Amino acid sequence: MSQYLLSIDQGTTSSRAILFDLEGNIHAVRQEEFPQHFPDSGWVEHNPEDLWSTVQRTCDAVMAEEFGTDDEVLGVGITNQRETTIIWDRKTGKPVYNAIVWQDRRTADYCKSLKLSSHEPWVHGKTGLLIDPYFSATKIRWILENVSGARERAERGELAFGTVDSFILWRLTGGRVHRTDATNASRTLLFNIHSQQWDEDLLEFFDIPASLLPEVMDSSDDFGEITEGGALNGSSVYGIAGDQQAALFGQTCFEVGMAKSTYGTGCFLMLNTGDKALRSEHRLLTTVAYRLDGKTTYALEGSIFIAGAAIQWLRDGLQLINNACDTEPLAQGTPVDHGVYLVPAFTGLGAPYWDPDARGAIFGLTRDTGIKEIVTAGLQSVCYQTKDLQKAMEKDGIRPTTLRVDGGMVANSWVLQFLADILGATVDRPSLVETTALGVAYLAGLKAGVYQSLDELSDLWRCDRRFEPMMTKEHRDRLYEGWINAVQKL
Ligand code: G3P
Repeated sequence: MSQYLLSIDQGTTSSRAILFDLEGNIHAVRQEEFPQHFPDSGWVEHNPEDLWSTVQRTCDAVMAEEFGTDDEVLGVGITNQRETTIIWDRKTGKPVYNAIVWQDRRTADYCKSLKLSSHEPWVHGKTGLLIDPYFSATKIRWILENVSGARERAERGELAFGTVDSFILWRLTGGRVHRTDATNASRTLLFNIHSQQWDEDLLEFFDIPASLLPEVMDSSDDFGEITEGGALNGSSVYGIAGDQQAALFGQTCFEVGMAKSTYGTGCFLMLNTGDKALRSEHRLLTTVAYRLDGKTTYALEGSIFIAGAAIQWLRDGLQLINNACDTEPLAQGTPVDHGVYLVPAFTGLGAPYWDPDARGAIFGLTRDTGIKEIVTAGLQSVCYQTKDLQKAMEKDGIRPTTLRVDGGMVANSWVLQFLADILGATVDRPSLVETTALGVAYLAGLKAGVYQSLDELSDLWRCDRRFEPMMTKEHRDRLYEGWINAVQKL
């Protein structure tokens, strides 16, 4: 008989179900992609039924194929693409509109008008966030304004809002449970990160009825028993966290000053600031890292919208490569100062620029520019953007000395060496790079009593490879100056 923790990782491009043994090793994974919808310029939607059915199928498959009759699931965790907004009917469970994805920019004009009204510092003070289409509030408002009858139904208490975790939890519990955790709540622009409560003033400001909102729990908590989860029925959801927070937890960045950077669709650098909600003066976000036993740990976050997605574009859009792993040998054969800069602002620029109207560009093309320079520039853009975040953190008075990295792109050792060089900092790749799913398995395991302390989890972290900076400061500064010039030209 074996015992496991099961993580549901509902991400931007795929859903996964992962069974972990109690030492944090992966026993089995099932993954399924789902369609992306782009109904208009800058709009990005998912069909919530696709999110649910891929979660169901991946859970069913991993349980049917990898789980023995005597085995036991001690707890289930849900981690998710954050900010993505779903509103559904409380009676039927049916969404009233597609999920509006975090990358969606449709509310850019509305956000601009709010910024002009000089309310941003007030909103930032309460939420740690900036007024940007990225976060849930203006997406909720868009649905209420644009779906016929939605506002009236919301005011009558007939509708429910949730980030993806809430929606999946609702479905897994047969519509009995409407909850979320503090990390997901902290990405909505409606949650006061200091009082840890939905904020009435913000709800009024964004014109959103409180009746829509889920109950906010700790990240490791008893969220409810699964009754509509096939072989998972009878298990409880014991952990929920937004995917970036889950990755911070999986990387066991529990000490103040520890930082992780995840390279998935986008790149999200997060630094643990302990029990202090540090207010950034340089356009980084303050966010809830995790909440355990009612005690909140905060983080400073830099969010970059396009990282791995730039490589996807080189592969699928430009068809310069067949496979993401082709990028490593191409970059190895290219000098780092080839002079080409690719700024992948496909959906605007995130931190520290926050420009929803910026669009991508390639600079420095000459007659001898070829595929390898453009591909290398794509990889380097991810590192330069991380450098932007490091600079902003430094200006806020903090410098993470070591960076723990994870996500699909970190399989590419060339990228990590260039990252260490351009940051002038040590970069650590853990043995297990599925830290997002691992983090929420740990959160579920804490509640299930599998783990007794954070120290116990820290002891499970293993380094696969350490990358030390080898570039001179002068060289690094020269390369980075070229990037800054390119961004300024946008
Ligand atoms: O804030 C958005 C982030 O949570 C999305 O992460 O891994 O689905 O690209 P990912």
